[in-house]
Amino acid sequence: MCGIVGYIGHREAYPIVLKGLKRLEYRGYDSAGIALYDGKDLKLSKTKGKVVELEEKLESEISTQGTIGIGHTRWATHGEPNDVNSHPHYSNSGDLVIIHNGIIENYDAIKQELIKRGYTFTSDTDTEVLVNLIEDVKKQDDVKLGKAVQIALNQVVGAYAIAVFDKNKPDEIVVARLGSPLAIGVGEKEFFIASDASPFIEYTTNAIYLEDGEMAVVRISKGIKIRKIQDDSLVDPYIQELQMNLEQIEKGGYDHFMLKEIYEQPDAIKDTFRGRMLVEQGIIRMAGVDDHFEKFLQAPRIIIVACGTSWHAGLVAEYIFEEFTRIPVEVEYASEFRYRNPIIHKGDVVIAISQSGETADTMAAIKLAKGQGAFVFGVCNVVGSSISRETHAGAYTHAGPEIGVASTKAFTTQITVLTLMALKISKAKGILSKTALHRYLQEMELIPAKVEEALKSNEHIKAVAEEYKNASNFLYLGRGYNFPVALEGALKLKEISYIHAEGYPAAEMKHGPIALIDEQMPVAVIATRKGHYEKVVSNIQEIKSRKGKIIGIVTQGDTEVRGLADYVIEVPETLEALTPLLTTIPLQLLSYHIAVMLGKNVDQPRNLAKSVTVE
Ligand code: F6R
Repeated sequence: MCGIVGYIGHREAYPIVLKGLKRLEYRGYDSAGIALYDGKDLKLSKTKGKVVELEEKLESEISTQGTIGIGHTRWATHGEPNDVNSHPHYSNSGDLVIIHNGIIENYDAIKQELIKRGYTFTSDTDTEVLVNLIEDVKKQDDVKLGKAVQIALNQVVGAYAIAVFDKNKPDEIVVARLGSPLAIGVGEKEFFIASDASPFIEYTTNAIYLEDGEMAVVRISKGIKIRKIQDDSLVDPYIQELQMNLEQIEKGGYDHFMLKEIYEQPDAIKDTFRGRMLVEQGIIRMAGVDDHFEKFLQAPRIIIVACGTSWHAGLVAEYIFEEFTRIPVEVEYASEFRYRNPIIHKGDVVIAISQSGETADTMAAIKLAKGQGAFVFGVCNVVGSSISRETHAGAYTHAGPEIGVASTKAFTTQITVLTLMALKISKAKGILSKTALHRYLQEMELIPAKVEEALKSNEHIKAVAEEYKNASNFLYLGRGYNFPVALEGALKLKEISYIHAEGYPAAEMKHGPIALIDEQMPVAVIATRKGHYEKVVSNIQEIKSRKGKIIGIVTQGDTEVRGLADYVIEVPETLEALTPLLTTIPLQLLSYHIAVMLGKNVDQPRNLAKSVTVE
């Protein structure tokens, strides 16, 4: 939800900031802007629209020189997306310039106070209020920029990752974070600031991730000084060595990140289970689980909190955990859980699932659960993310950077991690025998090759997409383990093609959605041989007799559904609990191709952002 980038050092800042914004565009793309100081003047250019539009405008508008600069790509919260509301924002004097990711909740009260003191505002944003508050504090208290930022931030309520500098002191950038991510890349007499490490990965692999409630004064000459915003105490900088490489965050010959990420799933799943499964010995090793194993074994209940696609992975996990561990599971939308005074029993284990590790609602649910004494376990993809640090323990998915806004490989790798956890607990509880566990592990090892096989239907899926791309509505049906896959299939289609789609448990169709079925309605039905096959076939017959168009996702070699459906898409056979890892693939490809054929922006669908750091 907004991406921020900054540079201070000996290189030209503009190309670094511009490229960084392009990499962070997944976080928001309704407007963008850059401010540069060229040694004499502070210059700023911003515009509604994407970073490429900024690039065209900026280069004709201002000189791109300067070794200090900040930039922003926005997902609007306060104020509609337009040139004026775009970041960066100047203070009234024109000395300070700021970029901000987050929301200042009490901005209006502060704004009214500042208006009384003679400040004027050109935008509708909370950010312009913040930069003027900093300016006001700086003048009133006659303090340096760092101190002024600290005092101002102690007056605001909300979430922020900010970077601000003063044109009169162009050797430092002040940054701070609370609830929105902020990384500092540490080079040789140069520093990079960004919402994640992707903008600076080719310059340095040394990074500091600021913790919530911390700020830093970043100076070329003196390095970095980190403090707690609230009590002013100094914090020792902890420099991490980044694992990410440049290739991982580039498209690598694919037309879109989403397609690349769909095709990365065999490797992503392999990377997720690598080192965790000792297949022959029938052992699963997961440090985060092992270190707290008693908590899982004793848990009277597991509560899963997540949003969107991660919530769907949680639903798959509910089926798996209940079947294999016999621990009751509740899957909660984090946004509901956090506000509904949930009952958390002593010993309950809360599992928070999040690709980005930054989702505000999931973070709030974690804090609430921790506050009530629960043990909270994180399943995150982004290493070092806020959620991975806020939880007591966790397991990373190792899917690699997911840039396409529509989540794909994060989903299948989340399911992989959660399946391994359930199998491990099941074995320890004596529910799953050693032989049965061995069988599951052997099959899990085959999943990457089977995903590869499922991907081979790509051309056929393109033909199905061509046939139904103009439909106004879609239904997705599945049962058991594949009910959440139906939900996920529908979500993928809506978010990138803007076609209305609904996911339902197949048997629920007769309780309402069946009324929608006519010859205009494509219905994607997951009908793999394992898992209520005959019942799903009956549901397919009900659709057929109402002239609905059936796209069957079936097991290789299926003949029964083939005889009924308009199209079938085959996936290899696997154990029932592992089918979501395969049935998801054709649905991802179907929505991808429909969106491409409709000319939609697949990687950056309208109104969405990759990392939702506001509630
Ligand atoms: C859908 C999608 C979103 C996210 C949701 C949670 O394709 O990407 O629904 O799944 O915003 O995000 P994370 O997993 O980062 O917490």
